[in-house]
Amino acid sequence: DAEKKQHVARIKQLLKEKDAVLVAHYYTDPEIQALAEETGGCVADSLEMARFGNQHPAKTLIVAGVRFMGETAKILTPEKTVLMPTLDAECSLDLGCPADEFTKFCDAHPDHTVVVYANTSAAVKARADWVVTSSIALEIVEHLDSQDKPIIWGPDRHLGAYIEKETGADMLLWQGECVVHDEFSAQALEKMKHLYPDAAILVHPESPASVVKMADAVGSTSQLIKAAQTLPNKKLIVATDKGIFYKMQQMVPEKELVEAPTAGAGATCRSCAHCPWMAMNGLKAIENALENGGKQHEIHVDAALREKALIPLNRMLNFAA
Ligand code: 13P
Ligand code: SF4
Repeated sequence: DAEKKQHVARIKQLLKEKDAVLVAHYYTDPEIQALAEETGGCVADSLEMARFGNQHPAKTLIVAGVRFMGETAKILTPEKTVLMPTLDAECSLDLGCPADEFTKFCDAHPDHTVVVYANTSAAVKARADWVVTSSIALEIVEHLDSQDKPIIWGPDRHLGAYIEKETGADMLLWQGECVVHDEFSAQALEKMKHLYPDAAILVHPESPASVVKMADAVGSTSQLIKAAQTLPNKKLIVATDKGIFYKMQQMVPEKELVEAPTAGAGATCRSCAHCPWMAMNGLKAIENALENGGKQHEIHVDAALREKALIPLNRMLNFAA
């Protein structure tokens, strides 16, 4: 703990020296979220992270999350230095949607509007008409559907299927998934429900349809945190990455939060769902990034790709505004 305190003190000093601000996702470790809050940075969902970085005057953004979040920040603010604790923090959705194959898929359906989740590479965004995050996906697809436009959706098949069902839009789905949410099990959740009959179930829509079906509230990380506050239940079973418990518990200190079970985990579960890439964001790595920057930490996006990817990203931000 003494070591952690040292890292925290040094990071605070470096943030000032480098005119930098820490932007962290709800899935990062509690100590990182706390540090972001304490130093005037932000803890947020993917959409708010993009907005915050875009509007903040700091010269340097240090993005604690996974690579697509750093890339999004760089695309939106190329004049800033964008650092990440590690450039190895990937995302299974991004990895499962290579730009060349996705481009072929799109080219085979030229009459379709291409909507991609933010959890994609800059190259995939560059091929898209719209970028969306889970906070705003439903509204954007509703908007497109009202213009009778058939849609190509990538890469998350569960989120795509959920939106298709909610909106009735005509959607062709890329078959990707989040390795964390895909593991939630309706069968195990059913068993857990018997243990906590009064609990409400909160589900991120990257989860399988059978789990989403059992939910009292479905939404992005920020929407689930809101639902935790609005629902009357004193107990909440939460199907998303356990990193969210830091902020959720802060907002509802009087409620009991229970992690939803993954397949094979049984009726009670501790530390079931945590993204291995989000877990790579540590205090030491943040300190290193601020101290050294460079090849290990700095995000670069090819200028031509950046220009193309900026268009669908800005479309989302303008729609959200
Ligand atoms: P949101 O915070 O936008 O809900 O994103 C979830 C996610 O999986 C990010 O990796
Ligand atoms: Fe990707 Fe899932 Fe990890 Fe989010 S939680 S970064 S969607 S693998």
